[in-house]
Amino acid sequence: MSQIYKTDELIASDIDAYLEVHQHKTMLRFITCGSVDDGKSTLIGRLLYDSKMIFEDQLAALEADSKKVGTQGQEIDFALLVDGLAAEREQGITIDVAYRFFATEKRKFIVADTPGHEQYTRNMVTGASTADLAVILIDARKGVLTQTRRHSYLVKLIGIKNVVLAVNKMDLVGYDQTIYDSIVADYTAFATSIGITNFTAMPISGFKGDNITANSENMPWYHGPALLPHLETVEVDATSDQAKPFRMPVQWVNRPNLDFRGFAGLIATGTIAQGDQIRVLPSGKTSHISRIVTLDGDLPQAVAGQSVTLCFADEIDCSRGQLITAAGAPTEVSDQFETAIVWMDEAEMLPGRPYWLKIGTQTVSATVGQPKYQVNVNTMEHLAAKTLDLNAIGVCNVTTDRAIPFEAYGDNHDLGGFILIDKMTNATVAAGMIHFSLRRAQNVHWQATDISRENHAGIKNQKPAVLWLTGLSGAGKSTIANIVERKLARMNRHTFLLDGDNVRHGLNKDLGFTDVDRVENIRRVGEVAKLMTDAGLIVITAFISPFRAERDMVRAMMQPGEFIEVHIDTTLDEAEKRDVKGLYKKARAGQLKNFTGIDSPYEAPETPEMRIDTTKLSAEQAADAIIARLIP
Ligand code: ADX
Repeated sequence: MSQIYKTDELIASDIDAYLEVHQHKTMLRFITCGSVDDGKSTLIGRLLYDSKMIFEDQLAALEADSKKVGTQGQEIDFALLVDGLAAEREQGITIDVAYRFFATEKRKFIVADTPGHEQYTRNMVTGASTADLAVILIDARKGVLTQTRRHSYLVKLIGIKNVVLAVNKMDLVGYDQTIYDSIVADYTAFATSIGITNFTAMPISGFKGDNITANSENMPWYHGPALLPHLETVEVDATSDQAKPFRMPVQWVNRPNLDFRGFAGLIATGTIAQGDQIRVLPSGKTSHISRIVTLDGDLPQAVAGQSVTLCFADEIDCSRGQLITAAGAPTEVSDQFETAIVWMDEAEMLPGRPYWLKIGTQTVSATVGQPKYQVNVNTMEHLAAKTLDLNAIGVCNVTTDRAIPFEAYGDNHDLGGFILIDKMTNATVAAGMIHFSLRRAQNVHWQATDISRENHAGIKNQKPAVLWLTGLSGAGKSTIANIVERKLARMNRHTFLLDGDNVRHGLNKDLGFTDVDRVENIRRVGEVAKLMTDAGLIVITAFISPFRAERDMVRAMMQPGEFIEVHIDTTLDEAEKRDVKGLYKKARAGQLKNFTGIDSPYEAPETPEMRIDTTKLSAEQAADAIIARLIP
């Protein structure tokens, strides 16, 4: 089966390149939703078997497996094929999605085959994200189940417009029309409630082959299309994309020499012609198209789905990640959004932590707010939530560190769909869909003030700085910070000390010690420290601040060189031996949960500006060393 996986990997890693080769227009990508019990493997096997044109690598793999397969595919043993698919699915349960290929004379197909259980929600979302159509399978003996509802909700969320309701195993209910009709009625009621207004229902048997390639004599009462003919003829949106306003995210700037400057990308929607007025977002600068360049020479005009290089008549700024739009129909630009988020990582979402947000060809830094609610994907109920766990779906506000051009996901998947990437591990942790931009992003402007941070610092005759002390509880942060401040005061420096225990009595008294709360603790302290440096102060902070991501976030908020990270380094043993506040004892006794170093992590700085070994230096000496680093 290894050959199937190789092609899978190509598809998974570079679907665009793959589709380019295989001509998008004759290709239908679809997903089958249902569990093995619904006959999913049998149905997929049936489609592969009946289409008689299985791609060669798949054939070869199956041949190697069964030794019974003829080169044209006609002689494949159906039962063996299905067994092979099911076995592969089981082995491959940890790979995200298995993609399978087949073709008929009219079309080529890619089926995304994903496991159906709730713990594989993220796999289904991955498979669905590139699909044009979803086949929702129902076992005729069981009717609409919780998982039917969950799969349909996800299909709606991902925005797949073509839905097929395949009522399977009709052979096991005697091809009974009343059973079929009542299932369709049940499903219609549910689908309408979640906004699926249009779907094609059909009674089938994957096992017997009823209504797969042609209408079955066993169900003369059914007059709709059979499955395969429907898949062959269903319209996919390529033409409607061309009718939309012009949008092309810039993939790269093509500048081989000083005489040529072009912007390369894939046209997402609309058409463009020489001479057309364009607008580059987010800058809003306008120009018009002087040339449309392709490998096959210049074009007078290009449309959605084509890869082109556009040249402008004027030398306006434009770079990777920016969006070229029709001048008269630009998209909105914003830095705050309401979004739906599907969490895909084992580690929970941390509101306030910065993640990379990749949208179109652009990557920006973004933070996610506490969920407005989480959706129970089985009942569609809205639940209160502080965070999102693996496979959870929630509605959250997202803030980006700069304004980005976008469209609502419902209008444009390319410009409204995004992924979140963990900055430390580089793992994709979430998929998201923009609902709309928050009005406050438009209505809250930055108010320019007359007295600058330089004025503030100038009056105090000093350079602002943040001395960020991090380390385990009991390492000596507060003690050292206090001495540093005293010494600086004696030197006539204007300072302010922010101490964890104290701030947690006021500004942050609503926060505890879960990961989520610690992230928020440091975010707020960072913002306060930022304001204080704007006021010209030297800020000293003493917080455990256990996570690298948040310390790095605060560093990024400050001017270059202003943030001095000082690791007050003590071994856990030593801190526990001192146990000044008696908290380690309590934590060991199980009376204090989430205690740093015991059952909550501490991520030591990798390259701090300073490391103080408290077993070697006294608090006085440590303070002197820090001041020497600040004021050389
Ligand atoms: S941080 O992790 O969010 O940066 P912070 O520095 O504000 O923590 O607060 C740490 C102080 O809270 C410790 O010095 C200790 O006195 C107290 N504390 C109470 N519970 C805990 C806990 N579970 N883990 C760590 N510190 C705790």
